Amino acid sequence: MNKDIEIKAVIFDAYGTLFDVYSVGALAEELFPGHGKALANIWRDRQIDYTRIRTLCDQYIDFWEITKDALRFACASLKLDLTDDKFDKLMQQYAHLAAFPENLGVLDQLRAKGLALGILSNGTREMIDSAVGSAQMDGYFDHILTVEAIRKFKTVPEAYQLGPDSFNLNTNEILFVSSNCWDACGATWFGYQTLWVNRADMPIEELHVTPSVIGTTLNDVFQLIKD
Ligand code: LAC
Repeated sequence: MNKDIEIKAVIFDAYGTLFDVYSVGALAEELFPGHGKALANIWRDRQIDYTRIRTLCDQYIDFWEITKDALRFACASLKLDLTDDKFDKLMQQYAHLAAFPENLGVLDQLRAKGLALGILSNGTREMIDSAVGSAQMDGYFDHILTVEAIRKFKTVPEAYQLGPDSFNLNTNEILFVSSNCWDACGATWFGYQTLWVNRADMPIEELHVTPSVIGTTLNDVFQLIKD
């Protein structure tokens, strides 16, 4: 990837990148003491697995429904009694996430530099609008793109194509930012300049592709953006 091409827009993944899903694990621990971490991990892994299985088999249902299914599976696998009340509390927590502390400042600086900003998420528009509101990010984004338009989930090329189509830019003029390594890798394959925000200190995926930059917070976008 040629890092000398000037970036004109920045597109962010949503969950874990802009919105901190930590509070979901904390509530899971409160509701199921001793199991919060395992529950949050299985929930997240199954959520992403189901997006892939459903995309491969052309069996789309939206991300909110998938998130519910994954929560049910996670509790069943840990033999936890998921009452309706606990189910609702956990799903509502998912709908109202906080931003990571540095995020609003980074968005402000990017806008001040004249960059167009967007979100490209597997989530539904309703989920993203709710999270944007909770994180006080209203008004920052030129485009909020969700895969509902194509009824397939990232990492299919059609999902990443929503970016250049909506911003009317070449793919390599857009910086795609994700804290999910698989997503940053998919976007790199597609042709974006990419930042993997490795917040969780994970090893890089063994996919034989490397994001343009690997950082630890959203501030690392400035490694790719000229003054
Ligand atoms: C998203 C998930 C994958 O927002 O984080 O697309």
